[in-house]
Amino acid sequence: MKITYLSHAAFLIETAGHKILIDPFLTHNPLAPCGPGDITADFILVSHAHGDHIGDAIPIAQRCNAPIVALSDLAAWFRTKGVTTIPVYPGTVFDMPFGRLRITPSVHGNTLTDGSAVTIMGQPAGFVIYSEGKTLYHPGDTGITAELRLIGELAAPLDVALLPIGGTYTMNIDDALKAIEMLNPRLTLPMHYNTFDNIPADPGVFVARAAANGRSARVIAIGETIAV
Ligand code: NI
Ligand code: MN
Repeated sequence: MKITYLSHAAFLIETAGHKILIDPFLTHNPLAPCGPGDITADFILVSHAHGDHIGDAIPIAQRCNAPIVALSDLAAWFRTKGVTTIPVYPGTVFDMPFGRLRITPSVHGNTLTDGSAVTIMGQPAGFVIYSEGKTLYHPGDTGITAELRLIGELAAPLDVALLPIGGTYTMNIDDALKAIEMLNPRLTLPMHYNTFDNIPADPGVFVARAAANGRSARVIAIGETIAV
């Protein structure tokens, strides 16, 4: 399984011959290492309706003929934009060509802004990917919540957790360290920090504090690919 960090909460996961793109916020993202035209995907996972997570999902889905996986309310909106979707529900797991996909609840908002229309889209989601004998958890945006302990059990042994550390909208460093204790991942990669002025965090501090707790975390640089 290969993991490429595209900044913010955007990742490209390459596994079992498939490319899984998560929360592809590139246009209007000051840290993006590339544009939407530089990315190809077989599946696009969108955790929730905020603009920094929908990002460029629609044009990439159209160009690559890739379905968008999203909770059913958000998936219905995506279909009005002419893209194919796989509508899903929190607390479910199902088979995919790359393995299995589990849909997890997140603690966050989920308001969709489409032009002048503002719609509350229900619950935000996260994802556990089970593929090639590995498991990877992308929580979307979430605050600290007791759900993480159950997610860690359902994903066990969890190989990789991608955890937000920027605070304001999500967990900060302190709470992401608590999340590691609940999830028990082999490796944690920090995300969702420093994209905007109001989510500042030092990922080196996060990694050092995780290490002091006996936990393995590392900074994945923007544009970097690591194999797990
Ligand atoms: Ni959000
Ligand atoms: Mn966000």
